[in-house]
Order: sequence, then structure tokens, then C-alpha cells
Amino acid sequence: MRTVVDILEQRIGRALADTAGLDHSPAIIRTTADPKFGDYQANGVMAVAKQLRTNPRKLAEQVVAKLDLGELCETPEVAGPGFINLRLKPEYVASELLRINAGDANRLAIKPTEMAQTVVVDFSSPNIAKEMHVGHLRSTIIGDCICRLLEFEGHKVVRQNHIGDWGTQFGRVILGLWHMCMAEKRQEENGEPLYFAEELKALRALAGDGQELHALCTKIRDRHENDWRADKDPEEGDGELVFGPFLQGFPERPAEEVWPRIQMAYQYVNLLEECVVGMGLTIPTRQAGVIDYKDLGRHVTPMLQDRAKDPRNRQEWLAWNRVRELTMASCYAVYERLGVMLGPEHERGESAYQPMLPDVVDSLRDTGLAADSAGAVCVFPPGFQTKEGEPLPFIVQKSDGAFLYATTDLAALRYRVGQLKADRIIYVTDARQIQHFQMLFKVAEMAGWDRRNGRKAQLVHVTFGSVLGEDGKPLKARSGENVKLKDLLDEAVERAKAVVEEKNPDLPAEKKTQIAQAVGVGAVKYADYSNNRTSDYVFSFDKMLAMDGNTAPYMQYAYARIRSIERKAQSKGVDIASELAGMETLDLSEPAELDLGKHLARYSEAIEAAIADYKPNCLTAYLYELAQKFSTFYTNCPVLDAPPTKRPTRLLLCDLTAKTIRHGLSELLGIAVVEQM
Ligand code: ARG
Repeated sequence: MRTVVDILEQRIGRALADTAGLDHSPAIIRTTADPKFGDYQANGVMAVAKQLRTNPRKLAEQVVAKLDLGELCETPEVAGPGFINLRLKPEYVASELLRINAGDANRLAIKPTEMAQTVVVDFSSPNIAKEMHVGHLRSTIIGDCICRLLEFEGHKVVRQNHIGDWGTQFGRVILGLWHMCMAEKRQEENGEPLYFAEELKALRALAGDGQELHALCTKIRDRHENDWRADKDPEEGDGELVFGPFLQGFPERPAEEVWPRIQMAYQYVNLLEECVVGMGLTIPTRQAGVIDYKDLGRHVTPMLQDRAKDPRNRQEWLAWNRVRELTMASCYAVYERLGVMLGPEHERGESAYQPMLPDVVDSLRDTGLAADSAGAVCVFPPGFQTKEGEPLPFIVQKSDGAFLYATTDLAALRYRVGQLKADRIIYVTDARQIQHFQMLFKVAEMAGWDRRNGRKAQLVHVTFGSVLGEDGKPLKARSGENVKLKDLLDEAVERAKAVVEEKNPDLPAEKKTQIAQAVGVGAVKYADYSNNRTSDYVFSFDKMLAMDGNTAPYMQYAYARIRSIERKAQSKGVDIASELAGMETLDLSEPAELDLGKHLARYSEAIEAAIADYKPNCLTAYLYELAQKFSTFYTNCPVLDAPPTKRPTRLLLCDLTAKTIRHGLSELLGIAVVEQM
């Protein structure tokens, strides 16, 4: 992509360097906030003048005298202590608009890069046995937008959904299944309600109540031990009497029945583990004797993982796969509603890297990068310290032999550079993982795993802030649970229905539903995109569904309005396509026309800015400004009733505005546009 900014940067930089007798000096082109100063400003003169100890204003004047921006800008003006103000020529703007008009509506005259890369984007990456909640929203949609932007720029993008489907989750999920099994058995035999469902609620409610919580946890632990003993086959071993047959039948059970249950059982195991911390409750285990009850999940994980690898114990593995499948099915339903391009072909979860982990640790050891430290295998990358000033370890294997999140990430990175041939890897996660990725990148560099054929891949961590509730705390449902994305989208669509109803009560019901879908989902996405990704933001349905302001409905309405102008034109017998085809001149003599035209010609700058920092809000800000400029134009310049000499230009401005909004929203942000609202 080459924007006007790039051209100005190059030409003015050249003139500045020549005047100053330097090899190279950046022009530092900025877009101006106030049209009084033109469209762009070159700010590079001052630094050079300082370096040469010369008068900056004089230097600026000399540079301007040397400059030839002929077709692009009016004669530049020197302002203040040495700024160079630049104003685009209407003829240039007109020629740009004609070029966009003549080209493909999906490219809007923006050329793909000549330096195409293979870019791996690791995003969404939910953990298993959970329904997607609001915490997954940002990684999923910001990652998707980054993919779309990079694809548009001409790169080969490889999407990777790094699902959390191994690690301690494995043990906890199987433990959850075990509780589900035991509770179902009790239900069948004695008609007891499913205990984990009841107790999950009770544990949540008892938070903070020491005594009652202790009593409940003790009861759970006692029952656990009894059930465990009762499930033991004297010959075959643990879990063979009841749990084994349960697991055998598990994959065949219908999704609607088991999916809500397994999620609940998994939450139960997680919450229980948190609750029993510090209670001193223990539980006997086969291998390690008596352990603290809070450590059970962590304790059984490697054991179960090992068992699952043995073909004679396939039932854990099959049950696990089924949970994974159920998780992903629920994710795909959400991806589809969100317009996010992620499918089974992009799944490569943590479990996929398991076979590579021993070699990761061995290699690090062999090269002397990793060493044993307190029983664990660690790398100590330089520059990282604990609060106490000790070297901070990047642990790749625990003392019990288990591998970690970090080990998997090293294997994945090596795979992506080596096998997927990534020139760049982008990881999209929340800001809490900053240190993990800093250390990962450092260790990968030390091991040389970020290089292929001597070329270094660029490693990028794209972070984002939290979604907050109106109370300024991370958004939670009234029950204290995370808000499920599905519920969030349902509510947004429900509320959007009211907006549509108010705007356009006479539309057929089916149309209303379709528009409400686009507006509701669009509003949630757009609100997220329009905030600087590194900040937290407050989630507000009222704000995101407002018809005025920088919102999806405002943008969608702006688009629909232009389409309605076009439909009106057609109905008056104006054939827009033939009027715009082969247009050769434009008349941008009205200030509002020129202003809108300039903005249209600068779409590529917004895309470039969005890509440079992986910031979708550069795009939403551009689109919002575009809609506002269109509004001013439309108020001041009649289109259909324009004099015949003016009409083609104005129709073109309408058409290009619609095309740009459509492209920005639907191609780059994945937000549906509607023809009517
Ligand atoms: N599953 C992780 C989580 O939910 C995110 C994974 C991000 N990607 C990665 N390669 N570590 O926090």
C-alpha cells in the first residue's frame, strides 16, 4: 500500500535531506486536526535545523523552494517555527476518486503490498469445557479484524485457534465427568437431585461464610472418598466399576443433555478447588498417598493424561474428545453469529503439541539454556526478575514431570516458524499475559526458534483491556458468573429490535428480524472496535445502540440512507451505473464536496494506521468521520435535484461513500450492512 503520506514522506524527506546536506532526514508527516493548516503537516524541519544549528523557518523556506509536489498539493506554506503545511489539490482528489470509481469495489484502488508475508495469527483460543463468555469477545473479534486487514494488505494469513485443551483442564474435566457420573448414579438409585448442580449454587452462595462453607466442603470430601472406594474394582483398579462404563457410554449421549451438565460439573470442580484452599481437607490417592483436597485436579492430570495415551484406556481419551467437540460446536455457533472466520481447519489446540514437548525440554537442556532448579526445569531469560530481585524462571517442566502452558507455547512457536513458515506471528490475548509472552519471545530467541533459514520471524503480542460493567468492575452476570457471549448477543439483538421497530414500524417482520440481527451483533462488535484496544471499556447497551455517535447503528443507518438515495434516483429514471461508468471529470467546487472527496481519497491511510498498530479503532474513527462528512455534504448539496452538470459528481460521492462504508464495515470489521433501516 502506498498512501499520500508515504509519497509526501519520501519527497519532502528527500528535499529536506538535500537542502541540509544529509543522507537521510525524515519529513515526519502528520495529518492536521485543523483544516486551517491544510491537510497534512511536515514536522521534520525543526529537528534537522536544531542539528545544523540553523534557523528552522529559513530551512523550511529553502526546502519548500526545492519541493515539487506539482500534481499533489498546492504550493506548501511555511508556518510557525518551521512547519510545512500541505493542502491537497482538488484536481488530485478528483483524479483519485475517478481511479477508485474505475476499479474494483473490493479494493477501492488500494494495491496489495509487494512484500507479502506469511502471518500466523493466534486468536480466540478458548479453554475447553466452557461456553464462550465475554472474556473471549475481544481476542476473537480483534483477532478476526487483524486477519481481515492483513489479508486485505495482501499477506497470507494462517489463523490458529490455540484451544486450551490439555494442561490441568484435562484432569479437571475428567474429574468433573466423574462427579457427573456419581451424581447421576445417586439420582437414578435414590432419586437424589444432581448433587454437583445443587452444590455449585451453594458454594457460590457461601463465599465468605467460613463455617458453613467448611461444613459443606467436608461433606463433599467425605462423599468423594466413599464414592471413590465404592468405584474401585479389586482387580482392575480405580474407577472401573461405575466410571468406566459411564465413560464408555458418554460419547454417544446427546449433546443437549450432556453439554450443560459437563460445563456445570467442570465449574463445580474448579470452584470446589478454590473453596477448599486452607481448609486442611485431605483425600487419599492411589499413587501419592494422602494429598490436600485442593490439589486433586492438578494431581490426577498427568496420571489421566498418561492413561489416555495407552490404547487400553481409550475411554478417557474418547470422553475428552467428546467434550472438546461439544465445546467447539458451541464456539462455532458464536463465531458464526459474530461473523468471525474461524473453522475446524484453524483448530490447533494445546494437545496437538504434546508429542513435541519432550524434545522442547531436551533441546533446551542440551544447549545449556535450561537447567534444573528446585526440581523443575527452567530457563532464566536475562532481564526478568521476581519482586525480590531474583532471576525469574520460565518453567518448562515441573518437578512431577508435567509440561506447562509455556512448554506448549514454545513448541507451537517452533512449529509455526518451522512448519507453517511464519514470517510474523501475532498473539491476541488480554494484557495479563504480557509477561508470559515477553519471556516466551526471549526464550525462543535464545534458542533460535524464531529463525528460519537465518531469517528472524517477527513476534507480536497484541493485548487488550477488560470489558467492564457499569460499576467499573469486570462485567459479570447478576449470578456472579461470567456473561455468556450467546446471552449477550441475544440481548443485543432483542434490544436492537426495539430500535428497528421505532425507526421503521412498517417493515415486514422478517426484514425487521434480519436488520435487528445485523444491528445488535454489529453494535457489540463496533463498540469494542471503536475503543482503543489497550484500554478497558464500560459495556453499555444503551450507548452502543444509540443512533447518534460513533456506533454501529449510526454507521449502518448512514449506509442505508445512501442506498435509499440511490434507490430513489433509480426510481426517478437515473441510471447510476451508466452515469458513473467511464466518468472522466469531477467538479469538487463546493467546500463540502471537496472535504468529503478528500476523506474518501484517504481511506488507505486509515487502513494503514489500523494495521500499523493493530488498532481497529483507527478504522472506526475514519468511518465515523466519513459518515459525518457525508452528512454535511448531503445537507448542503442536493443530489437528485442538482443541476445536470453537478449531478454526476454528487452521485459519485454518494456511491463511493456507500462503497467505502460497506467495505470498512463488512469486509474489514465483519459487521453486516443493511439496505434499509
Ligand atoms: N487459552 C488461553 C487463555 O484462555 C489463550 C491462549 C493464547 N495463545 C497462546 N498461544 N498462548 O488464556
